[in-house]
Amino acid sequence: MPQARKFPHSALLLGLPSIVIPAAVETFPPAKLNLFLELRGKRPDGYHELDTVMVAIDRRDCLRISRTAEPGVRLRCRWSPSVAAWREQLRSAPVQMFELPPPEDNLVVRALTRFAETFGCDEGFDARLEKRIPAGAGMGGASSDAASALAAAARLCGVPLGDPRIGQVAAELGSDVPFFLGLDGRAEEKQAAGERGGRVGRRCRSGMARATGRGEQLTTVDASFGLHFVVIYPPEPLSTAAVYRQAKLPADPIGSDAFLSALRGGASLSGEGNGAGGATRAGIARHFFNRLSEPARQMSSWVDRSLDALAGVGLQGGMMTGSGSACFAVASSSRSARRAASKLSSRRIGVCFATAPTSLPAPIRLLT
Ligand code: C5P
Repeated sequence: MPQARKFPHSALLLGLPSIVIPAAVETFPPAKLNLFLELRGKRPDGYHELDTVMVAIDRRDCLRISRTAEPGVRLRCRWSPSVAAWREQLRSAPVQMFELPPPEDNLVVRALTRFAETFGCDEGFDARLEKRIPAGAGMGGASSDAASALAAAARLCGVPLGDPRIGQVAAELGSDVPFFLGLDGRAEEKQAAGERGGRVGRRCRSGMARATGRGEQLTTVDASFGLHFVVIYPPEPLSTAAVYRQAKLPADPIGSDAFLSALRGGASLSGEGNGAGGATRAGIARHFFNRLSEPARQMSSWVDRSLDALAGVGLQGGMMTGSGSACFAVASSSRSARRAASKLSSRRIGVCFATAPTSLPAPIRLLT
């Protein structure tokens, strides 16, 4: 197995600090929620033109990648903590729900293969993926894994994450992949202030962005305030392509501007307690929207059942994320989110958990 090495040698000659190129890294790809999602039209390439606001959340897979002397990509993937633990929460789920796709179909393998082709790597990669993000949920798990695989490969090969070819490979792999790299087309604050000059590919640590185009054109949104989510993943996943196929385009699409204004109004929200924060939180939650929830509700009764369950424990702003089937709502504090999630978990209607926004991209830990 290759050892950690120093790079580049020219840096040593110039007296610059050398960069350690590790042989193995570990990262924790986060999930996302779509707080707002509108379809603005159908594109000639068959995709939909979107206006969406996504936030990364602290529910994470675990991905370990090491360099191997022989070329090629190897992946071992499993549910975490175990299939039995998932089954326990998803008792009425069909057996196929726990089957993982063959490694060659996994977006991690495709990401590492495309990375090696693009950067001409003569070494290979060995990847281990532990899945805690629900699949077929609209939470971007596979896209986030792919983004983290690209970032990890870049770290393992001494390629800067700002290299524009990484953003291009990310967009090829899937519409949501660039979001998880934390790439920013143009800082949202600059746009609000009418300033020019945000650079494409600029890194920004906020985990919230407005995405347009297929979902790959990103503008960072200031997410410095607290929101506390409760998520339900019911025992019936949905196929993204199938939900999009059933969706009807609105005659008069809604823009995300009103939602973004409500978010800006809530920027002083500390996140805990009620009072003024409660009013602002309700204002934000009132603007949650998802055009895909209508076709998804027709395809699975679990969407409405999940939304009813969230409202039933007193949570606000129940909404489906992405193309479903997972749904979320907001609580007034992290404590009340945990309490609501544990109440819902005891009913065995799905995997329920409390979570909160997190930053992007996911940090990478050097193992060797
Ligand atoms: O880009 P990604 O592979 O994640 O998309 C999965 C499917 O979702 C696409 O094949 C397409 O059917 C649908 N989709 C769409 N418009 C988008 C994003 C996804 O129609 N903007």
